[in-house]
Amino acid sequence: MPTSLFPSLNRTLTALGVTALCSLSSFAASPSWLTAHDAEIKALLAKMTLEEKAGQMTQPNYKDIRDLADIKKYGFGSVLSGGSSDPKTGNGQKDWEQMVRECMELSRQTRLGIPMIYGVDAVHGHNNVHGAVIFPHNIGLGATRNPALIQKISEITAKETRATGIHWIFAPCVAVPRDIRWGRTYEGYSEDPALVTQLGVAAVRGLQGADLTGPHAAIASVKHAIADGGTQFVLKAGKPAIDQGDAVMDEATLRSIHLPPYPATIDAGAGTIMVSFSSWNGVKLSGHKYLLTDVIKKELGFEGFLISDYNAIDQLVPATDSTQPLESNNASGQVVTRNYKQCVEIAINAGMDMVMLTKRYEEFIRSLVELVNEGRVPMSRVDDAVTRILRVKYAAGLMKKDFSTQVDAKLEKEFGSEEHRAVARQAVRESLVLLNKVLPLSSSTKRIHVAGRGADDLGMQCGGWTIDWQGKLGADIPGGTTILAALRKAVGSSTEVTVSRDGTGAAGASVAVVVVGEPPYAESKGDRAELSLDKDDLATIANAKASGVPVVLVLLTGRPMILGDVVDQCDAIVAAWLPGTEGAGVTDILFGKASPTGKLSFTWPRSMEQIPVGTSKEAPLYPLGFGLTY
Ligand code: GLC
Repeated sequence: MPTSLFPSLNRTLTALGVTALCSLSSFAASPSWLTAHDAEIKALLAKMTLEEKAGQMTQPNYKDIRDLADIKKYGFGSVLSGGSSDPKTGNGQKDWEQMVRECMELSRQTRLGIPMIYGVDAVHGHNNVHGAVIFPHNIGLGATRNPALIQKISEITAKETRATGIHWIFAPCVAVPRDIRWGRTYEGYSEDPALVTQLGVAAVRGLQGADLTGPHAAIASVKHAIADGGTQFVLKAGKPAIDQGDAVMDEATLRSIHLPPYPATIDAGAGTIMVSFSSWNGVKLSGHKYLLTDVIKKELGFEGFLISDYNAIDQLVPATDSTQPLESNNASGQVVTRNYKQCVEIAINAGMDMVMLTKRYEEFIRSLVELVNEGRVPMSRVDDAVTRILRVKYAAGLMKKDFSTQVDAKLEKEFGSEEHRAVARQAVRESLVLLNKVLPLSSSTKRIHVAGRGADDLGMQCGGWTIDWQGKLGADIPGGTTILAALRKAVGSSTEVTVSRDGTGAAGASVAVVVVGEPPYAESKGDRAELSLDKDDLATIANAKASGVPVVLVLLTGRPMILGDVVDQCDAIVAAWLPGTEGAGVTDILFGKASPTGKLSFTWPRSMEQIPVGTSKEAPLYPLGFGLTY
């Protein structure tokens, strides 16, 4: 796909069979199929009222919709299930399918019958739903260096998501995390922009597939634009506050480190881009006209639509009068929120096309209609936003006359299948990084002692964004295999497997396998000032070491940790990251069914003084790209 400084010129020149002379730049352009229905869209737009247009730009959160009839009343362009916004009937594939179908059928009862597009964070498999295959989080996928595998994983994720009737996935995250104290480090593939770009493109291709109108495709949402992974470490009220912070850097740094995934994924056809909560040099991205409109839309030729993050536009206008209640009622008794109308004005004029607003949908629509009628937001801006939204709906086949909310029966059958789990198990194998000395274990050894709080805990194995937004220790994740369960299956009948949580009781065993790491977290809940292992985990390792048997340490963490003496206490160390439901991928490596091939996609610091990356001239504990093999 030629890239060009002037995407529309490039398309014209290409259509004329002339290779665009200006294809010397690294700039991108959305593929022409995103604009293929512009004529129909223009005709539809002409029929729409301003209120209907504002409705298309509105995305409430399912659990915050006060009355599902509001879907028909306001004609929402989309509904999302944010973290933990699950069906009321249960959390299985059928429950989700019924919930989504009900919402979509209500949207088709509006005057013009424009179907909504439902969105969800299927960021490592369809991770909210019981029985779905949960893949390694992106930090582990980065260690595979395998774009073909990431494309395959994304294809499966799209299939399992479409098995619940959902057409839109808020992934891939193409953050380039530079400070691993950030709670979202594990959602990033790497600190290396080139690797993030390569795997981000593979993910878009896997999610959207060759035919976006097919039963297996899902619209991607490349996130979070821009420089979400470049924010500074600060303390607020004594607590680390990196997430949603400020990326303080010059434009050259922003363009060289944090921008590259965007032209490439736009070129690959990404239908949507999610805008970051964070700021660049003190200006919130949700209201950043230069980056949203001048760079992403004009310079990079993005023809899809920009979606805000979760209530992110509310942060655009700090409360001038903090004594004023956040929400109060105006003269006509309607709920009004402090400065919200100003937030809407700034965000939409900056280039935001759809607003993820959880519950404030009446107020958003009312504010936007007033702003257009008052001339503070041009109708042309609203028309551009709705055109972009409709482009994606046409591209996804939602506008076809014979569009049906019926889910493909084959997809339902394949949901959580052994075939899908085999791919996840391969991903786990390829994501593991052997850091220290060598294995493998013998599966016919006399006794293996297993210790640590992560050995038999799917919640810890899967991390955040699993069933619940924050994930949960000891979570019930149907279909998953813990590392302990996998180990018991991997050994021969002559091998005894003993277990203790604290590492005691290992004496006399052939080897102790200690599985420790971080409890699940998501977003700012994972911001940390210090990255040593938990003291109970350190005690577990010491107890195992004191038993006098060889110690194999398996780390379940969302980032590199400061290991200190642990390196010398262990005979082997394996970084397993957050591998997901297929624990057998870990034992495949431990017992040598496969050789470790994972390579670090993040520098592993020796001390806190080496964070963020690039801070110290001293050699790290393990450099980017490090990884031993058998
Ligand atoms: C969250 C995250 C974003 C996610 C969205 C919807 O706050 O920042 O990654 O897609 O809200 O859940």
